[in-house]
Amino acid sequence: MLRARIFLMAFLLAVQSQSQTSLGAATAKLAPSAQQRKTSEPYSGDLSIFESPGRDERLQINRVMDILSIHSGKSVADIGAGSGWFTVRAAKRVGAGGAVYAVDINPEAVRYISDRAGKEKLANVKEILSKPDDPLLPRDSVDAVLLLKTYHEVAHPVELLRNLRASLRAGAKVGIIDRNGNGEDHGIGSDVVIREAKEAGYRLMEKYDFVKGDKMDYFLVFTAGE
Ligand SMILES: C[S@@+](CC[C@H](N)C(=O)[O-])C[C@H]1O[C@@H](n2cnc3c(N)ncnc32)[C@H](O)[C@@H]1O
Repeated sequence: MLRARIFLMAFLLAVQSQSQTSLGAATAKLAPSAQQRKTSEPYSGDLSIFESPGRDERLQINRVMDILSIHSGKSVADIGAGSGWFTVRAAKRVGAGGAVYAVDINPEAVRYISDRAGKEKLANVKEILSKPDDPLLPRDSVDAVLLLKTYHEVAHPVELLRNLRASLRAGAKVGIIDRNGNGEDHGIGSDVVIREAKEAGYRLMEKYDFVKGDKMDYFLVFTAGE
């Protein structure tokens, strides 16, 4: 009887240790990016909210464009373009010799920007209806990229940044403006963005906090490569 009990206990201990090892191995196999972190629901409401008066001054958007080297003749991507608020500003700056790709996963936003570019006679704007993990930009097509208040909504950020790389020209700058938060509260920590960008093969070049002045928003500038 005693021998049977000892045998049973030894058997149970062996099973428990085996299941703990398998669980540990499974958790270790999940790299940080494979574990889906929280993201915010992509915005699909009234697009006119992005046109609030004084936004140019609050964001210091001309300074942002200077830092991203957005000048006449350059080619720019506005990923998560929304109403096209940034698209039209970049399009005016790059002029007829340049181009701005307005990229969004929301067909409403893409239609809205197409109409807007027509009304504002901006022939250098090209709209792209993209995928959540891929901006679908042509290869070797852009000198500068901005994700303005969009990164916290990107469901597959590392994949999106990896897929973006083929469209970057030599020395292209990728800017990310967002707000500190936990991912699902319309913000995401700058440390998370830096870690994910590194995982996707980008190097942080510069970090600013002048966008908005409440120290909650940040502006990160990356370049592809280690
Ligand atoms: C909060 S709005 C910001 C709009 C604009 N950038 C601005 O600040 O005026 C975020 C936009 O990103 C788009 N979006 C979300 N996830 C995206 C993704 N993975 N790729 C491209 N666009 C995305 C949404 O459809 C939405 O239009």
